[in-house]
Order: sequence, then C-alpha cells, then structure tokens
Amino acid sequence: MFKTALVTGGNGNLGRLVAQNLEKTGTRVVSFDLSGSEGAHSDPRHAVVLGDIRDHTLLEQTIRTHKPDVVIHLASMLSGSSEANPSLAWEVNASSSIRFMHMCLNHKTGPFFFASTAATYGPDLTSPVGLDTPQWPENIYGATKVAVERMGVYLKLKQSFDFRCLRFPMVLSPFAPAGAMTAYPSHAIAAAAKGESFVFPVSKNTGMSTLYLNDVTRSIVEICAADRSSLRKHIYNLHSYMFTAQDLVAAIQRRYPDFTCSFTEDSPTEDLIRRWPNIFDDSAARQDWGWEPQYDFEATVDSLALHSNLK
Ligand SMILES: NC(=O)c1ccc[n+]([C@@H]2O[C@H](COP(=O)([O-])OP(=O)(O)OC[C@H]3O[C@@H](n4cnc5c(N)ncnc54)[C@H](O)[C@@H]3O)[C@@H](O)[C@H]2O)c1
Repeated sequence: MFKTALVTGGNGNLGRLVAQNLEKTGTRVVSFDLSGSEGAHSDPRHAVVLGDIRDHTLLEQTIRTHKPDVVIHLASMLSGSSEANPSLAWEVNASSSIRFMHMCLNHKTGPFFFASTAATYGPDLTSPVGLDTPQWPENIYGATKVAVERMGVYLKLKQSFDFRCLRFPMVLSPFAPAGAMTAYPSHAIAAAAKGESFVFPVSKNTGMSTLYLNDVTRSIVEICAADRSSLRKHIYNLHSYMFTAQDLVAAIQRRYPDFTCSFTEDSPTEDLIRRWPNIFDDSAARQDWGWEPQYDFEATVDSLALHSNLK
C-alpha cells in the first residue's frame, strides 16, 4: 500500500496500533515521538526517532532520511494538558503542526493525515451533529485543532496538499492515558476485573458519541489508502454508538456480577461529557470511503474486559 509511513505521536495510544496496522500491510513505519515515550514496537523494520514536534530541524532530517510516502500526524497535547498550559498547547498542536504541513508539502510526502476531534465543536449542540455545524470550541485543545483543520484545507485548495482529516468523538481504549478525562469507562472495567469498586466521574445518564480504539486506528489507515478522488469532503466526522454510565454498569455487571460503584454529579468530566453530542453524522464517511464501525458497545466492553484480564 505505502512504502514508508511517518507516524508522529507513534508511541501513543493510537500511534502504536496504527503502526501495527500499517506494518501488517507491509508498510515500514517510522515513529516520531517524545523521548521517554518509548514502547515496544514488534516489527524489526520499525524505526523510532525521539524528539519534539517543535524541533523542525529534526523533523526535516527525519523526512530526508526516511522519505515517507504517507504522514500520519498524531503528536498532540490532549485536552487536560492543553488547558493547563494554553500557550504551549498552541505551540505544539497548532503552530508546529502548521509548520510541519508546509514541510510535508515542500517534500511532497503524499497523503497527510491529521487527527482532529469532536472537541472542535462548541457545547450543547443538537444531535446528530453535521459536518458543517459551526465550530466554536470553548477549550484551547479544540481551538488548536480548528486552526490546523483550516490551514490544512487552505493548503489543499491552494496548493493541492493531500490533507486528510477525521474528527473523532470519545475513544475507548484499553491503553487510555491515565489522565485522560474520557478514560473512565476503561478504568471502570479494569476496576471490575480486579474486584474493586469504582466511582464514576459522571452521573448515571451521562454519555456521548463514542468509538472503540480498533475502529479509530483502522479508519486512519483506510482514509489514507482511499482514492483521493473519492474523498469529496475535506474532513469527516465519525461515530459508532452512545452509551450512558448506567448502560456501562449494566454491561459490567453482566460480566462481573459483584461489581459495585457510585456516581459523581458535579465534576469537570461531567461538565464536559454532558454537553457533548450523542451522535455525529458520519454519513459522508460511509458514502465516500466505506467507513463502517466494527465495534458496537457490547463488543467494546468484551474487548476492554479481555484486555483487563490479561493485565
Ligand atoms: N483518544 C481520544 O479520545 C482522541 C479523540 C480525538 C482525537 N484524538 C487525537 O488523536 C491523536 C492521538 O491521541 P492518543 O489518544 O494516541 O493520545 P496519546 O497522548 O497517547 O498520544 C499522543 C502522542 O503525542 C506525543 N507528543 C505529545 N507532545 C509531543 C511533542 N511536543 N512532540 C512529539 N510528540 C509529542 C505523546 O508523547 C504521545 O505519544 C491526538 O492528536 C489526539 O488529539 C484522540
């Protein structure tokens, strides 16, 4: 499919699995990520470059050395760390990504994938949220992602940059970073597997549009491989299912009948999730490049429970 992929944030939650998916197709992967993020990459051809996405000399050197024919840009500060340091978030997520896109354009590196987010929309929208719903995020993380979306589309329109972008909703993952606000469903399942009680940082009926990690990483490889002429939209929204905390408790108790828990009515996570939509309209992705989620809610819980038992 591709000869060499450069995956920034390649040692992260999504990055490691995207690399594995690409390697299964015969693509050689070069991960670019911060020093200290090293993890196991099983393919012996896998190269790791340790550095900061703000270091454009190193990035340029990486492109010259490895000559990628696809770039998957996942390196990013997430919502919590962005809010804690908005200036750094702008530098890492927005300014560096924009400089990086110009560099990839100059080096003609092929399709450039950017991981955007449902957090680019403002709160309290009506479901289903359409692709063209105005984006007025109230958080700096979402604002940095809007900035990159806009520059990516601009470079595509003006200079034929092959910009490809997906907006992900909440992603459930067995490898969710511990500090991620949206990691509580995986942590609840892990607690149940260990026979521990769990305090949900949300109330019973709170939930939002969600995808399972394996569908997310597959979608990234699929949109990169799609025929450019079939992509009629600049950016696509994805969605699989919505579940509430109460739905999750019932699903956990079907697998771990002794599981006990309590809920929190008043927390930053509750404020965030409660105001996010239940459904994003992903019909354009389905039509244009055949997007279809493979993990529904029950399949997700099964997979998370399996991973918890293996830990
Ligand atoms: N997980 C989700 O719910 C979700 C939802 C929507 C979008 N996304 C996006 O998907 C991408 C991957 O997210 P993830 O869940 O794998 O998060 P993650 O934190 O596991 O991965 C991000 C990676 O970026 C790296 N990174 C951070 N700052 C860097 C810097 N200055 N230079 C180089 N590398 C740096 C980190 O070390 C990490 O390995 C991100 O762009 C994120 O915004 C994730």
